[in-house]
Amino acid sequence: METKTYPDYETLSAAVAQIMCDNIRQKPTAVICLASGHTPLLPCRLFVQKANDEHLHISEATFLGLDEWVGVPPENEGSCHYFLYNTVFNPLGLQAGQIHVFNGMAEDLSIECETMDDVIENNGGIDLMIVGIGMNGHIGFNEPGVPFNHLSHVIELDKTTIEVGQKYFPAATTLTKGITIGLQHLMNANKVLLIANGEKKAAIIQQTIESEVSNQIPATIMQTHKNGIIMIDAAASSLLS
Ligand code: F6R
Repeated sequence: METKTYPDYETLSAAVAQIMCDNIRQKPTAVICLASGHTPLLPCRLFVQKANDEHLHISEATFLGLDEWVGVPPENEGSCHYFLYNTVFNPLGLQAGQIHVFNGMAEDLSIECETMDDVIENNGGIDLMIVGIGMNGHIGFNEPGVPFNHLSHVIELDKTTIEVGQKYFPAATTLTKGITIGLQHLMNANKVLLIANGEKKAAIIQQTIESEVSNQIPATIMQTHKNGIIMIDAAASSLLS
């Protein structure tokens, strides 16, 4: 694992967008898995701008949504679906077959998980994952205590995730479970960028990089990834020793 620090969120975001474009340029059939949330917003916008400006050949790439809130419909502004379609998929003009996201409203969520696992396998694995980090150290909805060897699964959300998650929704929303790509997929991915910005992430970033690897802080798994990069701005790096 490597840690890279950037002066601010803008330069961090530009570096992430550059890596995404380079990845697709080198491998047009790349499989890219994206988190939603506040951290990936600017990286995703800059990626779309760059891909469009540079006429990046994107029609063979596959895009995966990292996770979804169970019971939240896609048209809800707080859903991961809404974020990814509005920020990335629609502005890039992707075809439906290039996109695979979880349906948090599905009657049978185990089928959602199996389908995602099959898509990943049938496309030869994930080339690039862009993930954020929760205030409790989660990645996707891999909450504290999650086994590191899980593939896609449904999980009870941690108290912190439920509280912090309200920030995405226009009105108070009942959040109980999440559906997520598991940490085994992250370990199998060719490259993982864990991105974080701002002072509020400094303490969890310090624990992620400097504590022992433990599923109580799921993001510590990054320490063991062969091609994992923690990309942070100066504020998020401020507590590193
Ligand atoms: C969202 C996701 C979450 C977020 C994390 C950080 O798809 O996977 O793990 O990445 O909670 O969220 P922000 O970026 O809003 O601080």
